[in-house]
Amino acid sequence: MSESFVVKPFCSPAQGVAQVPGSKSITNRALILAALADGETLLRGALFSRDTEILITSLRELGFSVEANKILHTIKVVGLGGKIPAKEAKLHVGNAGTAARFLTAFLTLSENGKYFLDGDAAMRQRPMAGLINALRSSDNFAYDNHGKETLSFPFTLITSGYLKNCEVDASASSQLLSALLMILPLSSGAKVLMSSSTVSEPFVQMTEKMCAQFGRPITQVNPGEWRCENPGSFVSPGIYDIEPDATAASYFIALPALSGKNSCVRVSGYNPKGLQGDTAFAGVAQTCGAVLNNEGNALVINHWPEIKGGTFDFNNFSDTFLTLATLATLANQPTTIKNIGHTRKQETDRVLAMATELERLGIKTQPTAKELRADDSLSSLTIFPDREALKVASAQKPVSIHTYEDHRMAMSFGILGSFDLWGDGRPWIEILDPKCTSKTFPLFFSALESLRTQFVSVAVDGGAACGKSSTSRTLSEKLGFLHIDTGAHYRSLTQVLLQSFVNPEDTQAVNNSLSKIKLSTIISGNSAFLALNNKVLSEAELRSAVVNASVSQFAAIPEVRTFILAYQRNQVLVAQQNGFAGLIMEGRDIGSVVLPHATVRIYLEADASARNQRRKDEGIVDSIVQRDKIDSSRTAAPLICAPGAIRIDNTHLSLSEVVDKIEKLILEAGRIS
Ligand code: CDP
Repeated sequence: MSESFVVKPFCSPAQGVAQVPGSKSITNRALILAALADGETLLRGALFSRDTEILITSLRELGFSVEANKILHTIKVVGLGGKIPAKEAKLHVGNAGTAARFLTAFLTLSENGKYFLDGDAAMRQRPMAGLINALRSSDNFAYDNHGKETLSFPFTLITSGYLKNCEVDASASSQLLSALLMILPLSSGAKVLMSSSTVSEPFVQMTEKMCAQFGRPITQVNPGEWRCENPGSFVSPGIYDIEPDATAASYFIALPALSGKNSCVRVSGYNPKGLQGDTAFAGVAQTCGAVLNNEGNALVINHWPEIKGGTFDFNNFSDTFLTLATLATLANQPTTIKNIGHTRKQETDRVLAMATELERLGIKTQPTAKELRADDSLSSLTIFPDREALKVASAQKPVSIHTYEDHRMAMSFGILGSFDLWGDGRPWIEILDPKCTSKTFPLFFSALESLRTQFVSVAVDGGAACGKSSTSRTLSEKLGFLHIDTGAHYRSLTQVLLQSFVNPEDTQAVNNSLSKIKLSTIISGNSAFLALNNKVLSEAELRSAVVNASVSQFAAIPEVRTFILAYQRNQVLVAQQNGFAGLIMEGRDIGSVVLPHATVRIYLEADASARNQRRKDEGIVDSIVQRDKIDSSRTAAPLICAPGAIRIDNTHLSLSEVVDKIEKLILEAGRIS
């Protein structure tokens, strides 16, 4: 994947099983607990991402045997009951908060150890003080490169090998507390006191439950005071199954809100009553209009009829607030997300990042990005939905969304970009640095792509009598696609304008006549016909000599083209809603203007003499050379071979040869099997 990713909107319903990876929080806790257990543990359904790889690498650096199988999603860890083989090591924790905090506490179990720990620039800014301070009381000290005690990365940690009673300020991150709780059972008689309130109860509960799953329950004997009644090294459960990541699942709970009717997405292994606090997002989504079903071991999400705004407290499952924040731009009323101040110190200042990028899309927020920049105590965000603003912002080209090395920014805006804002499949969001999803979900964009039902659009352009209609009609019958002849659109309008005696040079008269026309579609067999004021003109009317003689003049009028363009683009939706697997649209400007993002774009051509002969054989009076001249030289959407379109010269090819050729190209595009 390159430096940016242009998100392709879903023009057809999202359907299928979302490939959601294992939870990062559970994988990294399980790695630590398995390493602290006696004997071997096989972790199944593990996540392989930058953060978990960092912890795996670190454990290996420290002398542990860790065997990872990325294909099977398993990790085999040989635990040493609280012993750490290496007394010295250099560890790099990247920007992985869990690895940073968990390892720092874990290392203090090593007597007389000396470990150098560093992280990415962003990690150096992230809170460690609460944990380092708590460990000091057990004679573990962190020194900077000048030998002075420090409370942040990078540092050299001199360790004592034990944990006595300690007091931790976990107000900046619950991981500071979780890190201590996971070594508590190995520290006989010690207690952990929390001097603050914690920002995220559910993560602390996850740690408690997992310690119990590994045989050493820890209990909160008094509010904010933890002990392990039955201390000792952890007990391997043998096999440990990791739940799919509930935060990652939030993107797929959201997707059917904006991927159209008949969307149906499934997340296997999702347990709303499992270890992860972020499953609470499913409840919020339901309040916002999501249609959810728990089917045994899977969550099934159907199309949301409406996205409802409202006020929500995300304190306990704040990783998912970005998912709702992006959806909120399309809601029926403003959405307020409260109590997310602590996310301002995560991968990036998430509240500020979200407000900044929403503003880039033309969306108003309260507080504004400027206000957030000026006051870092602000802890909620209101988003004012505005589809028109989204269109204004993306009218010229897709809006480039900055992701600030934050995987959740990339994924939540990736979902928003899946919405077909323009109704014609035109992309409107580009994600910068999409690879940042590797932190927790390296294959996020592939997982999203695999839910796309495979609607195919084919654009066929070419000059008069080059065989577009017969080719397109045959192909659509063969493939079950909807055929749309845009030449007939211009012919219909020409016929009506001629009947009203409108002079093509009189723009006002043209506009006046057009304003009285109502457009609709009648589908018969595999073809869509344009009806003007509910009437479809006959083939004889459309192909009369007088229409042949004037159609190119009327088709060259910019007002006429603008008048019909939105209708033409909307045929994609018409085809989908009527259950066609694809659409073939033929004309002069389909690949260049009407459907520039079509799956396959073809430019048909043939010798002038062959084309003249074809018309003669049909017994039609038509000056095709004259029409081609006007069509190619006009300024508005001229007849061209669009850049990237495939040229096929059919002078010496039979109809079935051309059809086979295009069918092969469609198959090669990998869209249908
Ligand atoms: O059947 P033939 O190829 O001769 O013509 P058509 O497809 O029925 O189109 C009739 C005329 O409509 C063309 O000569 C163009 O002037 C106009 N047209 C256009 O401008 N843009 C299109 N996408 C399709 C047709």
